[in-house]
Amino acid sequence: MKLLIKGGALVLKDGEVKADLLIENGKITKIAPAIDEKCKVINASGKHVIPGIIDMHVHLREPGFEGKEDIESGCKAAVAGGVTQVCCMPNTNPVCDNAVVTTYIKRRAEEVGLCKVNPIGAITKGQNGESLAEIGKMKSAGIVAISDDGKSVANSAVMRLAMEYANDFNLKCLCHCEDAALVDGGVVNEGFNSTQCGLKGSLRAAEDIMIARDVALSESLDIPVHICHVSTYSGVEIIRSAKSRGVKVTAETCPHYFILTDDIITGYDTYTKVNPPVREDKDRQAIIKGLCDGTLDCIVTDHAPHSLKDKQVEYNLAAFGISGIETSFALSYTYLVKSGATTLCGLMDKMSRRPAQILGLDGGEIKEGAVADLAVVDLNEKYVIDGAKFISKGKNTPFGGYEVYGKVKYTLVGGEIKYAD
Ligand code: DOR
Ligand code: ZN
Ligand code: ZN
Repeated sequence: MKLLIKGGALVLKDGEVKADLLIENGKITKIAPAIDEKCKVINASGKHVIPGIIDMHVHLREPGFEGKEDIESGCKAAVAGGVTQVCCMPNTNPVCDNAVVTTYIKRRAEEVGLCKVNPIGAITKGQNGESLAEIGKMKSAGIVAISDDGKSVANSAVMRLAMEYANDFNLKCLCHCEDAALVDGGVVNEGFNSTQCGLKGSLRAAEDIMIARDVALSESLDIPVHICHVSTYSGVEIIRSAKSRGVKVTAETCPHYFILTDDIITGYDTYTKVNPPVREDKDRQAIIKGLCDGTLDCIVTDHAPHSLKDKQVEYNLAAFGISGIETSFALSYTYLVKSGATTLCGLMDKMSRRPAQILGLDGGEIKEGAVADLAVVDLNEKYVIDGAKFISKGKNTPFGGYEVYGKVKYTLVGGEIKYAD
């Protein structure tokens, strides 16, 4: 099986190169100025070839919440977004806290056969925050990390145990940072807008306290930890200072935190309701700065599809979450690269290379010998985001009507075309 991508600008680790790229048996076997082969050809002239996006934080909802999303619809949406590999959170029903659910997810994803799906196991049984899940057995079944995403492990002694135990299996804890007692039913960022709208707010401190705690555990125990979806300027500062001391902390953020501010809640649109909440402009700016200086390692979506009935209710009752996997590349390209904050190489480092490094996954880079997980994108193609047109079952985007650049034209996984625009 051969495939030739001709005439594109390849986004490599250290820069862009105009070259042809040959794929044989699922691998990139040759990169050269002009390759001629008798095989299927993708004409990429005028387009860019990027490493496939590795979205290490998504919710695929299966098993249990197939009304919101399932593995097939989630994977179809992923490849439409240029994503070749996802890591899916365990807050399903049943929770992925055992090897049976892990195996089910992996098998189902193989049947679907679109992108690679790496399950994340729960930290505690049923995400109850008390007793550790079957971490070792789940590792044997194929989990790539553990997380109780959706909430923090409130008990610090349980969290310590989880980190030590996971580390013995060479797994990282991915920490959703939120002090539930302090959030106390808050639905948006606590500040001027929450007061004016009459919506209960949640302080930055609710997030920062848990970031600081998990960083402190990591430092004291000398065990790596990963902080999920950072949304506060102060959280960025905690991580920056920890990194400067050599603490083994890595961190992610999402497009909504570097694009939106809580001004958008004033329309009471429940598609803006997400956890942690979008905050203020100083947070937004600090997150961009954190991405650019390496404090924040990667961009994920926290793709959280919900059904209409979960969102078409009053703000206080609506589910938290944004359906983001189909828009992450275009939004990130438009708001970070076109704006001049970083380069396309810098962006793909955040969206592909670093996630692969953090979790020890295959892929993340275009080079000879690497697996042929990549996407062809047209950076000049402009379009308007419309949630109604999403492939994902979750139409819940706050970015409807946004004009973005960067259309995904092809997505290849293991050298096979899994999406064509
Ligand atoms: O907004 C969110 N939605 N934040 C989370 O932590 C969980 C997620 C979900 O599962 O819907
Ligand atoms: Zn979370
Ligand atoms: Zn999440």
